[in-house]
Amino acid sequence: MDSGKQITFPLLMSVGAAVIGSLQFGYNTGVINAPQKIIESFINETWFERYQEPITKSSLTAIWSISVSIFSVGGIIGSFSVGLFVNSLGRKNSMLMANILAFISAAFMGFSKMASSWEMLIIGRFVIGLYSGLSTGFVPMYVGEVSPTALRGALGTLHQLGIVLGILIAQVFGMEAIMGNDSFWPLLLGFTFIPAVVQCILLPLCPESPRFLLINRNEENKAKNVLKKLRGTTDVSADMQEMKEESRQMMREKKVNIKELFMSPHYRQPLLVAVILQLSQQLSGINAIFYYSTQIFEKAGVAQPVYATIGAGVVNTAFTVVSLFVVERAGRRSLHLLGLMGMAGSAILMTIALALLEEYKWMSYLSIVAIFAFVAFFEIGPGPIPWFIVAELFSQGPRPAAMAIAGLSNWTANFIVGMSFQYVQEYCGPYVFVIFTVLLLFFFVFTYFKVPETKGRTFDEITAGFRQTAAGAEKHSPEELNSLGADSQL
Ligand code: GLC
Repeated sequence: MDSGKQITFPLLMSVGAAVIGSLQFGYNTGVINAPQKIIESFINETWFERYQEPITKSSLTAIWSISVSIFSVGGIIGSFSVGLFVNSLGRKNSMLMANILAFISAAFMGFSKMASSWEMLIIGRFVIGLYSGLSTGFVPMYVGEVSPTALRGALGTLHQLGIVLGILIAQVFGMEAIMGNDSFWPLLLGFTFIPAVVQCILLPLCPESPRFLLINRNEENKAKNVLKKLRGTTDVSADMQEMKEESRQMMREKKVNIKELFMSPHYRQPLLVAVILQLSQQLSGINAIFYYSTQIFEKAGVAQPVYATIGAGVVNTAFTVVSLFVVERAGRRSLHLLGLMGMAGSAILMTIALALLEEYKWMSYLSIVAIFAFVAFFEIGPGPIPWFIVAELFSQGPRPAAMAIAGLSNWTANFIVGMSFQYVQEYCGPYVFVIFTVLLLFFFVFTYFKVPETKGRTFDEITAGFRQTAAGAEKHSPEELNSLGADSQL
């Protein structure tokens, strides 16, 4: 079998250990949805104990909204800080170290009830947000760097699979009969320490990224040994050759920090693509579903909204698996386009269902179908692809800075949707999804014209494509032309 396509045990183990970080992100995205009422009554009781009066509705809403959305604030800060760690500590040790945050957060959230302190809950949510933000940089970077070119998309999709499984587990554990009740909710939130323990056991058994060893540390022998293990073959000369080429390329580039990333015409195109793809993921409206689905289903007249929410989680997971199997065949660009178009269609269906609910009761079923389809199309492309494509669009030098900018864009958009959806919904009523439809169509057009296919191309080939574009665009600058060569394709 072609060693470039071989899934070896060390490769699977490394990717598996890394995506526990993704699972944590998903778990904490989904965990706070179901037990809302119960935690709110805890806040109310605590307030009463302290001030001998019941909490006002607006204070309760404020404390609750902060508890939910402080997670994305942590995510914004965490994702932006990725570059501080990955080059000094290495990819693997950065992931390992981040678990300190998961333990701290689990302690704050798990003991908040005992300590009668909703402040501890908020601190815990912020800290696990920091962890999740870091993970959304660390995991795709490490997975992209250990994977063979032919499997980079499929293994990259495992990051998203980790996230969706985390969401699903949280939805199921959050049911009243399991842990979403008065006695066990602190355990439900504190549960985040279990994946952290597992990751702390597994990661030390995994290798450091060979790309990091060779390109950042210049440790050729170590890199070669790691590659042999990961690829399950003694002949890793093709991989080594490709990494050395990237390394040589990097020597020619200056060291790239965030400011330079913005300034250089060289990176303008891939940076724009990376950022817009992140925005297309979040502004598609997906988290309006994952944060508020129960309430949306309730409004749409669905009898058992909690089960419909779990149904959405199941569809979400199933279609991520579908994407996993087709992404190396169909390509990133086409799947992203298909996903965006399908989501736009589903959003229109959703609008029709909500608008006609008064006249036809059966529209509540249509709303379930529409939401399930919306989620399914999301996972075909806009869910998994933006996360791993950023690592593909940049070479080793600018990659950490690019991941930081991409992460920041993603988390900020996540925060905006999470915070504003309820208000916008109140204002627009059943037409709220029209906004997402318009955005989705815009992202479709952008992807069609600007996003290159990265399937089956080495990192070096992909960045070379962008360099040519930049050189083409900068026809007036002779220095640029000298170092880059000219041509324009995008
Ligand atoms: C993506 C998004 C995340 C969302 C999830 C839903 O990973 O980044 O915000 O909750 O998909 O499956």
